[in-house]
Amino acid sequence: LGLRHNLYIGTAVDMAALNDPAEPTYRKIVESEFSTVTAENVMKWESLEPTRGVYNWGPADELVDFARRHDQRVRGHVLVWQNQLPKWLTDGVADGSIGKAELRDLLRRHITDVVTHFKGKIWQWDVVNEAVSDPWDTPSTLHYKGFWAEHLGPGYLADAFRWARAADPKALLFYNDYNIEAFGSGNPADDKTQFVYDMVKDLLARGVPVDGVGSQGHLGTQYGNFDTLQVAAALRKFAGLGLSTALTEVDVRSEMTDGVRAGNPNEINPRLQASAANFSILLQACLAERHCLSYTVWGFTDKHSWVPGTFPTEGLASIYDENYQPKRAYNVMRADLIYA
Ligand code: G3I
Repeated sequence: LGLRHNLYIGTAVDMAALNDPAEPTYRKIVESEFSTVTAENVMKWESLEPTRGVYNWGPADELVDFARRHDQRVRGHVLVWQNQLPKWLTDGVADGSIGKAELRDLLRRHITDVVTHFKGKIWQWDVVNEAVSDPWDTPSTLHYKGFWAEHLGPGYLADAFRWARAADPKALLFYNDYNIEAFGSGNPADDKTQFVYDMVKDLLARGVPVDGVGSQGHLGTQYGNFDTLQVAAALRKFAGLGLSTALTEVDVRSEMTDGVRAGNPNEINPRLQASAANFSILLQACLAERHCLSYTVWGFTDKHSWVPGTFPTEGLASIYDENYQPKRAYNVMRADLIYA
């Protein structure tokens, strides 16, 4: 996607695809189209420490080396999240053999070891990911959700950022979440963007080292979504706290009807068009805001998209199709970048 501007353009990388000798095109596109990469899975705790005390750095190191060879920056993803935790950890907490004090210690050790291992090689770390509930959760009043809040209380957020800063003072430390592309009612009880804004503002007021907010950007053509000015305004409001911003996991999924699966252009084309518009809206917003450092797509090809695995009736979420042909979204983004 070129570098005719100072915005870094990235993709999440599936290491299995990158290393698959039958997939030279996958590797070629990662090398040639992107200036920053994110590990889709291999820097998550279950992957780095599948057995307690035994680290598996291999695949993550490989990606970091790959990025260095191709002059790409790395977004580290992710230090603290409730998903993809190792079984020994969740089992230990569930059966009571790991208590609260030990859990906090394990988290400190995890953050310290991982950030130290990659010290100097990570541009932006997603320190905490998806800590806040959605309006459709129970209770619907927004709250801190998930394993870490349940077992340690929300104080883990400040701890995590402090431990990460201590281990690599130069890495930019991000809070990363979805459904924070635009502000809504302004009431933190039901507006997730406002909740996150208040949360980060409070962390900063307490001297917690947060450097940025990552807005994931998982959109769908079946939803209303946003316009560029709304998204730019949200990014600007976060930047007003002194933060950097980034679009970190952009993709735009669509309902896969029988007609889409059968290749009916009357059903496919409007989806491709709406998808392209949404990729572009987020890109233009990021381009317009100088604190928006990078725009990363969460995988670039429908061949290796996470979407059907999570939403079996949805797909078409990426900027290349399953045969690595660029879609309309790719072309629209390219135009946005050329004329930026
Ligand atoms: O590695 C195992 C493999 O050994 C096994 O055979 C296979 C069978 O299902 O599963 C493989 O693990 C899968 C893993 O991806 C690696 O491919 C998991 O089942 C699957 O659940 C996992 O999905 C990932 C998902 O996070 C899980 O939480 C997606 O690839 C990844 O794209 C997705 O990424 C998240 C971000 O980290 C945070 N934001 C949302 C985003 C999308 O859900």
